[in-house]
Amino acid sequence: MKAVIYTYYGSPDVLQIRQMPKPEPKAGEVLIRIHATTVSRTDCGLLRAKPFFIRFFTGLRRPKHTILGMDFAGVIEAVGAGVKSFKPGERVFGMSPDKCGAHAEYLCLSEKGPIAVMPASLSFKEAVVCEGAWYANTYLKKFRLKPGHKILIYGASGAIGTAAVQLAKSCGAEVTAVAATQHLNLVISLGADRVVDYTAEDFTRIDEAFDYVLDAVGKTTYFRCRRLLKPGGVFAATDLGPWWQNILLEIWFSLIRSNRVVFPFPGNSTEFVSFLKTRIEAGEFRGVIDRHYPMEEITNAYRYVETGQKTGIVVLDITPGDEDGNK
Ligand SMILES: NC(=O)c1ccc[n+]([C@@H]2O[C@H](COP(=O)([O-])OP(=O)(O)OC[C@H]3O[C@@H](n4cnc5c(N)ncnc54)[C@H](OP(=O)(O)O)[C@@H]3O)[C@@H](O)[C@H]2O)c1
Repeated sequence: MKAVIYTYYGSPDVLQIRQMPKPEPKAGEVLIRIHATTVSRTDCGLLRAKPFFIRFFTGLRRPKHTILGMDFAGVIEAVGAGVKSFKPGERVFGMSPDKCGAHAEYLCLSEKGPIAVMPASLSFKEAVVCEGAWYANTYLKKFRLKPGHKILIYGASGAIGTAAVQLAKSCGAEVTAVAATQHLNLVISLGADRVVDYTAEDFTRIDEAFDYVLDAVGKTTYFRCRRLLKPGGVFAATDLGPWWQNILLEIWFSLIRSNRVVFPFPGNSTEFVSFLKTRIEAGEFRGVIDRHYPMEEITNAYRYVETGQKTGIVVLDITPGDEDGNK
């Protein structure tokens, strides 16, 4: 099979497209023919091994798993012994958070993993939507977001931000979204009740208080945002922050029995894919696709994602010719 591999950490230039052995499903596994995947900020972090400490999980000197790509949509090609949940020919979508591997023509996953039959209305390219939404949902779950809560989402135009706006609305919360001028219509279309253009005004100075502030792009800090928080309000961020301050602040506040700053880690990905499917089928969630790249342009895809300026998701087309006929 054709796959994008990396055998060293480094810039997108270390990526190579190579022929690799096609995997075979073991007992309890399914073999998926991948049609579409994404290039995400996670892939960029893993490629460069940044932050450095991730090497303790991904391989100290070289990557243990040499194929990146977490989100996928494709077709079950074969099933291993004992598989009951899926059968060949079914269109599926999901994530491979433990070993990645979706930047390839085939991927084997446990049938009990984060994989589900695709919502019938979606094309493969519209179904690679899980990862950013999984992170977004992690924060909203930690907040225990409920109808009536007020949340400010900073960086609402990214993969996590666009998902957070939609999932927060489906919880019944009142959403204020902070984004640049050119993204304001998009975030309104996703359900934001109010928008703030960060290029025109300092969002930390708006005259409103929130139960929750989510920095979905890792470009602000608790200290800048704390005046936006109600008493008892909570701040969360998607990045560690300067000097890893978000983890240190979470520890500090927990020592004084407060949850003023939280830095949660993602939860059960299997349950999440099924949950997201229900939200998509209810018309409450859609992936925001910025652009597509063919596999041959993988290096350009990474370079673009690394700019930090994508809107939502960047799709990598693995199986050419799917655009129209073969949904
Ligand atoms: N290292 C990892 O493994 C990993 C994995 C997942 C997520 N993360 C972190 O999670 C965060 C979000 O990831 P993502 O994939 O959702 O990001 P993303 O899609 O790359 O987000 C970029 C979006 O944020 C907007 N933006 C850029 N600067 C902004 C600013 N100063 N204020 C408000 N909006 C701004 C950009 O639009 P404009 O520039 O047009 O405003 C763009 O639409 C990142 O900090 C990322 O590092 C890290």
